[in-house]
Amino acid sequence: MQSRVLGKDLTVSAVGLGCMGFSHAYGAPTEEQEAVRLIRRAFDLGYTFFDTAEVYGTAENPHVNEELVGKALADVKGRAVIATKFGLRFDFDSGRVPIPLVPDSRPQTIRRSVEGSLRRLGVDHIDLYFQHRIDPEVEPEEVAVVMEDLIREGKITHWGISEANEEYLRRANAVCPVTAVQNRYSMMARHYENLFPVLEELRIGLVAFSPMANGFLTGRYGKGQHFDAATDYRAAMPQFTDEAIDQNAALLKLLNDMAAEKNATPAQISLAWMLCKKPWIVPIPGTRKEERMAENAGAAGVILSADEVNALDQALDCMEMSAVFGGTPVGKGA
Ligand SMILES: NC(=O)c1ccc[n+]([C@@H]2O[C@H](COP(=O)([O-])OP(=O)(O)OC[C@H]3O[C@@H](n4cnc5c(N)ncnc54)[C@H](OP(=O)(O)O)[C@@H]3O)[C@@H](O)[C@H]2O)c1
Repeated sequence: MQSRVLGKDLTVSAVGLGCMGFSHAYGAPTEEQEAVRLIRRAFDLGYTFFDTAEVYGTAENPHVNEELVGKALADVKGRAVIATKFGLRFDFDSGRVPIPLVPDSRPQTIRRSVEGSLRRLGVDHIDLYFQHRIDPEVEPEEVAVVMEDLIREGKITHWGISEANEEYLRRANAVCPVTAVQNRYSMMARHYENLFPVLEELRIGLVAFSPMANGFLTGRYGKGQHFDAATDYRAAMPQFTDEAIDQNAALLKLLNDMAAEKNATPAQISLAWMLCKKPWIVPIPGTRKEERMAENAGAAGVILSADEVNALDQALDCMEMSAVFGGTPVGKGA
């Protein structure tokens, strides 16, 4: 697969693998050996960028995702870039299930988190360490100073912020240069396009999470789809309701038409659209299926011209579509 550079010098595959779904949010977790096999298989398919987090896990093992990624990539250490995240903590005291997550970026918490992540990943440094969510109780400068220290100590080499806004990003970046933001970005959730000029100005990459609107943009989910509400967050996502399938008919047609024109799949078009928009955008679609890993990687080879990307944007701008999980529908004040 072609590669891209995040920030000034972090080279990653143009499409990364989001590993969350192996143990979190998308149904019953994958059995360990199979998850390890699949993640390692992604490397063979050309992925050199893997995204995990301290808090992707199960009730039994809340940090298991990092362990899976660590095991899977143990024999290709140094050739795969691993991103993980700190700054969200399980609120075990709440007594609620699923255990609520609360932001916590206090320096002492980050210090504990980094040691745990290094251990579970089985690495001596983390390639890209994301603050998972902004903690309203902690100033960006305070977080950035910890990142500066961790870089100096060799525990991390690059850092980033997830769901970053302009002010926070500028303040943090002024203390310790940020390599990438990891924000939600897809054809259905384009509200972070307003951050693009800032990313360009500061030379910061965008790692796009949920780039296919949680799978919706693949066009493979129709009416009557059932998701297990206990384990699969899609059960409560507005884009997967029967009503939304009708509301998104024009969007799915747009994807299908462009897919037919480019001899590609709708999933590939949804990724190629952002890949061809800016050279510093790296989507991290998540899948637990080998053939879909190959399909999604193939998006890096689908070329849309600037005119074609603009035409898609214009169509999206004036298109009616359903609400989407975590996003503001385009054209409705985004
Ligand atoms: N920073 C954050 O706060 C944050 C939040 C959410 C996610 N993330 C990261 O972003 C990654 C990706 O986001 P996401 O998983 O939420 O959303 P996504 O990548 O937009 O969609 C994932 C869903 O799409 C399905 N899928 C993937 N490729 C497909 C294909 N070619 N055809 C049909 N279905 C396909 C997957 O199911 P199958 O497994 O069955 O293929 C999965 O259910 C996560 O793994 C995680 O690492 C970060």
